Amino acid sequence: MCGIVGYIGYREAYPIVIKGLKRLEYRGYDSAGIMLFDGKELGISKTKGKVSDLEEKSKALASSKATIGMGHTRWATHGVPNDINSHPHVSNSGNLVIIHNGIIENYEPLKKELIKRGYTFTSDTDTEVLVNLIEDVKKKDNLKIGKAVQIALNQVVGAYAICVFDKEKPDEIVVARLGSPLAIGVGKDEFFVASDASPFIEYTSNAIYLEDEEMAIVRLNKPLKIRKIKDDSLVDPYVQELQMNLEQIEKGGYDHFMLKEIYEQPNVIKDTYRGRLLANEGIIKMAGVEDNIEKFLHAQRILIIACGTSWHAGLVAEYIFEEFTRIPVEVEYASEFRYRNPIIHQDDVVIAISQSGETADTLAAIKLAKEKGAFVFGVCNVVGSSISRETNAGAYTHAGPEIGVASTKAFTTQITVLTMIALRLAKAKGTLSNSDFHRYLQELEVIPEKVQEALETNDKAKEIAEKFKDASNCLYLGRGYNFPVALEGALKLKEISYIHAEGYPAAEMKHGPIALIDEQMPVVVIAPKQGHYDKVVSNIQEIKSRSGKIIAVVTKGDIQVKDLADHIIEIPETSDALSPLITTIPLQLLSYHIAVMRGCNVDQPRNLAKSVTVE
Ligand code: AGP
Ligand code: GLU
Repeated sequence: MCGIVGYIGYREAYPIVIKGLKRLEYRGYDSAGIMLFDGKELGISKTKGKVSDLEEKSKALASSKATIGMGHTRWATHGVPNDINSHPHVSNSGNLVIIHNGIIENYEPLKKELIKRGYTFTSDTDTEVLVNLIEDVKKKDNLKIGKAVQIALNQVVGAYAICVFDKEKPDEIVVARLGSPLAIGVGKDEFFVASDASPFIEYTSNAIYLEDEEMAIVRLNKPLKIRKIKDDSLVDPYVQELQMNLEQIEKGGYDHFMLKEIYEQPNVIKDTYRGRLLANEGIIKMAGVEDNIEKFLHAQRILIIACGTSWHAGLVAEYIFEEFTRIPVEVEYASEFRYRNPIIHQDDVVIAISQSGETADTLAAIKLAKEKGAFVFGVCNVVGSSISRETNAGAYTHAGPEIGVASTKAFTTQITVLTMIALRLAKAKGTLSNSDFHRYLQELEVIPEKVQEALETNDKAKEIAEKFKDASNCLYLGRGYNFPVALEGALKLKEISYIHAEGYPAAEMKHGPIALIDEQMPVVVIAPKQGHYDKVVSNIQEIKSRSGKIIAVVTKGDIQVKDLADHIIEIPETSDALSPLITTIPLQLLSYHIAVMRGCNVDQPRNLAKSVTVE
């Protein structure tokens, strides 16, 4: 996820692009860059760091009279955040300039082919491959830039929102989108292009949102034409008059970043498995795992180290890895692991999970594990973060920036990555039957649609939140794969609503916590049809007989729990192993609405920080 801004009109482009990038910085802040064209020269400046660093570095451009320009604030997916990998990227001829939000999955074979044709590359990004592919198509058939972009994009697999500028056609910007957002601001004698409307809302409230597989050539004094990339057919532009204010736009129209990120989960789970989960071919393809497959296959034990929500994702992974691969797994709080002189064997594999990639305890635990000879594999969301650089190998989640302190999309994308790793190892070890392996691939592939369906429980969650917003305590219960989800649900509630909440294995109630049950105690029970359903139903009966108030997360159509619980939230069915990706959704929504109703600062809860970089 990143921010893109383009301008073509009568105003000086520099201030518009810079201010626009600042408004999009929430979408990604690894690096920033700008391109201007004053009719003669291309002016490009780009730098690792924030837009403010770009302003510092691009002072020479600030006085430019150029009235066409583009800018990018990066959230790296391929190539660490540094000056070279920053956007814009320029083609070998120096004529074409591109900024890109998204992932070109097939950039490696495309790059190999372009290198064979004599192209050279300065960066490690997938984006630089795209701009040279466009150049290659343009040159080969002597095409105009618009047609070259269209033909090139038909060779691309992945996600993109791009702006392409051609020095030889300096009065236009070619834009296209698939999977990443792109809005066109339609002004009087001027056009704006951006990831959302926040860069241009002060200039015009007239916006056209490109749909997937659409492109347009934005040029002055010419009517805007939108075309389908696939077949060049024309699309009637639909100009919306935006009513949103700036802050609402940055949050995508949601009231809080946390809610926006909860709703991003279908897309970011898809982004995370894109190019890695090839269900039709029946393969999982993850470079970091392939390059170290022997270490994983010979592991006598997998140690998972993490903190907070990432630790909960690790607990889910314990169940998944042990069931799929039969490799023993231990999950450790990084903060405990690092101080207890842990026993590490040479053939141990350590998996470190961290959204931010900067958590001090996790980083220290990684260093300790490496000192003791372990191979450490990282699952991070921030490319080039300290943990991603410290680990021996890794796999990124592609969740995009997670701004809300309460982790949501990081949790589900971490589980997605860990599930893919477990499936890949199970395939290699033969510990999953072929039919089960293929079944899980197909089930994982449709998880985004099921998460989307689970998001439709939002109104129900809000209705239940109204009834329990004044509770002082809350219990969360789950079994098996959903025991970690109970812990995660309790963490979500306590960290944003300040209600004390605890998660327990449902069977554990009998060993003490059931003493807490009375009519004042709401109990959230995760009771999907799969797994230990009958046992969970017995636990619900135990709670009911002590007047506990029961909120149950059940598989759609469940009637048995419906008769027992005070409130039920119905979610789509999936296999037991994949159910945490679905059951966690209503718990995120429930905690969000309770926190809002209690007037809490949902995105920045008291006492917390998004990344705990201190011990
Ligand atoms: C979870 O909602 C919290 N934000 C917190 O527990 C977080 O998961 C923990 O600090 C670990 O952060 P990391 O994933 O960035 O390492
Ligand atoms: N995949 C491109 C890169 O890593 C674009 C990432 C983004 O959307 O910022 O540079």
